[in-house]
Amino acid sequence: MSAPASSGRLAGKVAVVTAAGQGIGRAVAERLAQEGAEVHPSDRRLDLLAGWGGPAAAALDATDEGAVAAYFERFPRVDVLVHAVGYVHQGTIEECSPADWRRSLSISLDSAYLVLAAAIPRMKAAGGSIVTIASVASSIKGFPRRAAYGAAKGGVIGLTKAVAADYLKDRIRCNAVCPGTVDSPSLRERIDDLAAQMGSRDKAMDFFVGRQPSGRFGTVEEVASVCAFLASDDAAFVTGQAVCVDGGITI
Ligand SMILES: NC(=O)c1ccc[n+]([C@@H]2O[C@H](COP(=O)([O-])OP(=O)(O)OC[C@H]3O[C@@H](n4cnc5c(N)ncnc54)[C@H](O)[C@@H]3O)[C@@H](O)[C@H]2O)c1
Repeated sequence: MSAPASSGRLAGKVAVVTAAGQGIGRAVAERLAQEGAEVHPSDRRLDLLAGWGGPAAAALDATDEGAVAAYFERFPRVDVLVHAVGYVHQGTIEECSPADWRRSLSISLDSAYLVLAAAIPRMKAAGGSIVTIASVASSIKGFPRRAAYGAAKGGVIGLTKAVAADYLKDRIRCNAVCPGTVDSPSLRERIDDLAAQMGSRDKAMDFFVGRQPSGRFGTVEEVASVCAFLASDDAAFVTGQAVCVDGGITI
């Protein structure tokens, strides 16, 4: 996909993007920078941000309460926050151990609580836009073998709506982007894991592509473009929404 022409619609905005080392978070960081924002990408794995260039990239484990609080102290003001951290446990409730459950909730939901709570005080003076990356596998739709993941991402949508309601008066908008299946490094790992369980890569691909009415996976750029819209003043009247970017899964 060719890079979109810069609109400059995020010029002068300070944008913080978590889980920006690869996949959707990385595409969002790149897209916001193309649109003129001063982007601060972070990831649990700093090595993944080696190619970013410039001093703004930082190591941040978004489940670490102390690290998240310390990280946000460097920002007098945050205009845009995109929180992309998430983890997919593949399993039914019977296949989900208490440790799997706690890990899922910690990475996908607790991290959203910690990051949004640290960012909001830095957005209150001037207003801003928060985008959480949830999923259609959530309160929106049930999928096989997504018990812990669906519960965690449903929680992300609930938190997103509550934050939108609480901070409307402070001109902070908060929306969730809910992707369908998107081609990313972790999707390729999940396909490999399922192929090992099913004994066939074709069967694993059928499982994933079969969920897609469009017959294909989404791209990280297709998700990033919706995040950039929600981050910008083009979406000034949009808040508290769960926006599906899913190629028709939830028609
Ligand atoms: N790929 C999909 O099909 C899909 C679909 C719906 C939702 N999502 C969501 O989109 C987001 C990004 O997924 P993806 O598949 O593009 O990326 P990915 O899973 O390939 O990469 C995730 C990134 O998050 C980082 N990360 C993991 N735990 C972290 C933590 N505790 N703190 C900071 N960084 C951490 C990883 O180092 C990695 O760089 C996730 O929230 C995911 O649940 C993805």
